[in-house]
Formats: sequence, structure tokens, C-alpha cells
Amino acid sequence: MKCRKCGQVAVINMRQHKLALCADHFTDWVPAQVEKSIRKYRMFTPRDRVLVAVSGGKDSLALWDVLLKLGYCADGLYLGLGIDGGFGYSDESQRKCEAFVKSVESGTLGIGKSGNQGAREARSPDSHSPDSQTPDPWLPKLHTLSIPATYGESIPEVAGRVQRGRGKPCSVCGLIKRHEMNRFAYELGYSVLATGHNLDDEAAVLFGNTMTWQVGYLARQGPVLPESDGFARKVKPLCRLYEREMAAYCLVRGIDYIYEECPYSFGATSIAHKELLAELERKSPGAKQNFYLSFLRAKENGFLNDHHQELSPLMHACERCGQPTTAPGLCAFCRLWVNVKI
Ligand code: AMP
Ligand code: FES
Ligand code: ZN
Ligand code: ZN
Repeated sequence: MKCRKCGQVAVINMRQHKLALCADHFTDWVPAQVEKSIRKYRMFTPRDRVLVAVSGGKDSLALWDVLLKLGYCADGLYLGLGIDGGFGYSDESQRKCEAFVKSVESGTLGIGKSGNQGAREARSPDSHSPDSQTPDPWLPKLHTLSIPATYGESIPEVAGRVQRGRGKPCSVCGLIKRHEMNRFAYELGYSVLATGHNLDDEAAVLFGNTMTWQVGYLARQGPVLPESDGFARKVKPLCRLYEREMAAYCLVRGIDYIYEECPYSFGATSIAHKELLAELERKSPGAKQNFYLSFLRAKENGFLNDHHQELSPLMHACERCGQPTTAPGLCAFCRLWVNVKI
């Protein structure tokens, strides 16, 4: 298979795009696709300070690399969840994020053709976070937070104690991650929070929500969740890229990431949905993309507009942490920790 642009040996064939590319053209193509999504969905501009939530996995590290290459001002946030799974899952994930930053500092990753000049404006000295220890103000910073060290319990421990986590910690984990990501973005003055969700993730979530006609969730699903009082804007710049494209990107760029999935992800419904969609994709290349992008177009055209009201139930500030919540008194996150004392 040959690269469609230069005739060299192709490293990837993307059947849904009828496009095969060599390593050089593929590493240019991915950032170009991400830039298209950032503009099309008005995610952010070079003047924004972006906080990338990095898990140590391929998608979020590739996203960070791409944003830096494109010249955006992007720092990372790693949340240590205290998950071991017999192979030190959380510790290993953190090491991958730290190794990524080292590679950026040594100039092997994250540097684009512009040499990151574009980020300089957003990184003006007074826009720096107060805790910034970065020696070179133009280099990205990795913020890390250990949940067990901060709150006294790992995710599996909290989940084992509260009703919400019985059996599986994923729901408690999601709640804690969302709260802490939002808190960091707010407290450190980032205007946007970016996650590494890819097209496969989004299509699987869409499939799940459609199966049960969760109209409220469908109305909220999209590449951008706008900021509102107390909530940072959330964006998914990889939402039009396939998971296999992100894996190939990491391989070609030399981004080392954690291959293992979270030990609690086995048996998750989203994995079953991903398998179903992969089967469809095998038979009909582009099916996944079509499913998700047609949904976004339908939304743009007003489908689900009537459900907008459901999106904005009455919010008030949590009595303990100040983040918006619909629950009276404490938000769901704070209630997790108050339980400790009962
Ligand atoms: P997941 O929910 O595990 O599929 O992860 C979706 C996205 O959430 C990732 O692409 C990351 O952007 C972010 N994320 C997941 N886990 C962490 C973590 N421990 N620390 C920071 N960000 C994370
Ligand atoms: Fe949270 Fe697996 S990453 S439970
Ligand atoms: Zn080529
Ligand atoms: Zn709270």
C-alpha cells in the first residue's frame, strides 16, 4: 500500500476515508483533522489556556502532543486514582505522563513547525498559575493530584464503602474525576478542559444512550459542553478520529503510553457496544463515523431542541465545595466524603 500523497510506503490505510498515508503525511494529517474539529465546533482559540486531562493512555497523550504541535497553550492534569489491579495501574499511568513531559522538555515531542510560538501570547507571565514551578515559562506543565493522598482513600476504597460504587468503582470514579478536573480548571484559571475521548468512545456512548432513549443525555452529548456558572467548558478535540488512528499516531510519533486498560473496565457495557460497532465498521467502513456525525448534524438542525429545558435544572452552589449542584445541600462528590464520618 502506498501513500496517496507521496507514493512512499503507507503506515496506515483508513478505509472510511479511502486514504492510505506514509508516516510523515499521517503525522501531519492527524493534527490537521484535530484543528478542523477545534474550529468547526468552536472549541477554543490560541488565546485560551487549555487543560488536557491526561490518563497515560494513547488518546489523551496523543491529544496533548497534537495541541502542542499546533501551537496551543496546553498543560496537563493527571489524577492518581490509587488503582493497582496487580500491576500498579495508576503508578504506571503516571509514569507515562511524566515521561511524555520529559520528551517535550528534551524537544522530541510536542513541538510543531511553529516551534509553539502561537502559545506564547496565552502564556504571558501574568497568566501563569500561582503554583507554577516550570523553569522555562514556555514549556507545558503537568499538574498531578493523588486522590488517596488528598482524600485519604483510593477509588476502589471509596467505591467499596458507598452505595453508588457497589460492585464496580467506575461510577464513583467518573464522579470524582469530573469534580476534580473541573476544580483544577477553575482554580488554576484554565478556560477549557480537554479530554481524549475519540470517535469510538463517542459512538459507543451514543449507541448506549440511543438504546435506552436517554434524551437528556443525548441532548448533552457533543464535542463541546459550554461553560456555565462554576463549570469549565469541556471539549473533545479527537471526537472525529478513530481509536486505531490514535494508536497508530502514538506508534509513529514514539509516544509511550499505558497499553493496559483500567482493571475495572472489563465487562463494561460500553465495551460490548464498541464490539458491536466494530463489527458494523468491518462490514461497512465509515459506519461508526456516519452514526456519530449524522447525530451531530441532526442536533445542529434542531432535533432535541425541545429537550433543552431538561438540560438546565435549577443549580445552586454546594455548601462545602461551591461547585454547582442540583442536589439540596451538598453535591454528590462532597457526600462521598461526608459519609466517611458517619
Ligand atoms: P475514560 O473515561 O477512562 O475513557 O477516559 C476518558 C478521558 O478522560 C481520557 O481520554 C482522559 O482525557 C481523561 N482521563 C481519564 N482518566 C484520567 C486520569 N486518571 N487523570 C486525568 N484524566 C483522565
Ligand atoms: Fe476509573 Fe477504571 S478508570 S474505575
Ligand atoms: Zn506520504
Ligand atoms: Zn461539593
